[in-house]
Amino acid sequence: MALKVTNPTTTKSWSKIQSHFETLKSKHLKDMFSSDSERAKDLTVKWDDFYVDFSKNRITKETISLLTELANEVDLKDAISKYFEGEIINETEGRAVAHTALRAPKSSKVFVEGVDVIPDIHEVKEKIKSFTESIVSGNHKGFSGKTITDIVNIGIGGSDLGPAMVVDSLQYYKNHLNTHFVSNVDGDHYNEIIKNLNPETTLFVIVSKTFTTQETLSNANSIRAWFLKSQPKQAVSKHFVAVSTNIDSVKGFGIDEENIFPMKDWVGGRFSLWSAVGLSVSLALGYDNFNKLLEGAHKMDEHFRTADFEENIPVISALLTVWYNNFFESESEAIIPYTQYLNQFATYLQQGIMESNGKSVDRSGKPVNYQTGTIIWGEPGTNSQHAFFQLIHQGTKLIPADFIGFTKPLYGNKDHHDKLMSNYFAQTEALMNGKTKEEVLSELKEQTISQSEIETLSPFKVFEGNKPTTSFLIKKLSPESLGKLIAMYEHKIFVQGIIWNIYSYDQFGVELGKQLAKSILKELNESEKSTNHDSSTNNLLSFYKNNC
Ligand code: F6P
Repeated sequence: MALKVTNPTTTKSWSKIQSHFETLKSKHLKDMFSSDSERAKDLTVKWDDFYVDFSKNRITKETISLLTELANEVDLKDAISKYFEGEIINETEGRAVAHTALRAPKSSKVFVEGVDVIPDIHEVKEKIKSFTESIVSGNHKGFSGKTITDIVNIGIGGSDLGPAMVVDSLQYYKNHLNTHFVSNVDGDHYNEIIKNLNPETTLFVIVSKTFTTQETLSNANSIRAWFLKSQPKQAVSKHFVAVSTNIDSVKGFGIDEENIFPMKDWVGGRFSLWSAVGLSVSLALGYDNFNKLLEGAHKMDEHFRTADFEENIPVISALLTVWYNNFFESESEAIIPYTQYLNQFATYLQQGIMESNGKSVDRSGKPVNYQTGTIIWGEPGTNSQHAFFQLIHQGTKLIPADFIGFTKPLYGNKDHHDKLMSNYFAQTEALMNGKTKEEVLSELKEQTISQSEIETLSPFKVFEGNKPTTSFLIKKLSPESLGKLIAMYEHKIFVQGIIWNIYSYDQFGVELGKQLAKSILKELNESEKSTNHDSSTNNLLSFYKNNC
């Protein structure tokens, strides 16, 4: 059965939230804290090794209860059941959205179109496991009998960002294999990567759900041509494997069936790292760590599926996005991990969140009359403090931010970790409290400057504060906790899509540019001048052709 179609702005709860917003919009967080000693406790969710403090958001308990009323009015509970039970909720593509089944235990049952998908999932997991073991142990030799030392993942979008982010984030847990990622169709990208590789000791993992993606196929073809310059054709089967739903095209590319790791079309590209798309993760970190990542995600699935909305981390998190996006009219959200390991996390989430919820037509096919998907960006602290934090603190835009920190560093350098985390704590406090004119004046009076200089300088040093943040404090970065964190954002995406009454699991918006690029590519190889575009594009094409 289809997802319920409700314009959220026509619900009773939306009007209530609007009135509530009017009473709250000018309140300062500082005052909300001083008038309610229980605030931090009441607005914090402790779950497993996660401590999630929502209290530095411009909300009260009433906000949460009104927002959950909205969630109930659009029937989020029913939508969650459909999501987990493999119903066709990606209606525009006629597919289920069943990536949660990929991390469900072997004993569970998940039916997609009447078929229990768990046995097949575990069969592929077994294949990933034994292949990983043969590569990591050195049992699998390259064609010339040498041990594999390097893995190259060739894919783009969901076939690159997830595995690349996880391998980089969990590099502390990595084995001896060197892992590389080629994604961009920019030939310089793959050339930079292969230039130091020995084809005899390298395994190429071609990842493409559709096996039609121009970037991936171009890179795979060019890399295979480079490989065949020094290796015989029979060597391909020892050095090239693929992950795809399109088995025929993979075979057509010349990859043996036994070297194909299948995936299903009910796994969206941007949610696919849990499937065979995670093969590079398994190779780089070992199968056990890959499995722990999945187990962590499954724990978050269970939390999301069963916890009351008021205690449900992805649900509250998603509702807060709706609160800021649709009531405060803030347009973007920052994700700031206080660990260098997560430096690709925001980039990864950009695809997950923006490709899913960047939609302007609702589930009944009508243009929406309210805002949907937010702009996602971010970089690790403390680096980002020295880059764009100025704008968050004193700019004109309201930018809700997720601060993600860990209580333990991986190498145990407490001195550095305390410094790092003191910044994590200080920034959310500073963003919330700001600095008043009185505070600025008294600080300036301590300095040896004149009264008129104090007057001139003080306006520039005032921080309004009242900038919302959510603090995710997690015990330790591990495969399991990262799995939980990624799954948290996946469910947040789902909840937002349900509230905004949009389809989160298609991505037609990326097609137009791809189509145009195909026809322009033909023109680039023609000698005549391009005249069939607008004058700007025609001129740019001429300049390119004359200078390339
Ligand atoms: O960017 C569009 C997209 O379809 C993504 O959703 C997907 O992750 C990516 O292209 C790669 O697709 P494929 O895995 O089929 O090569």
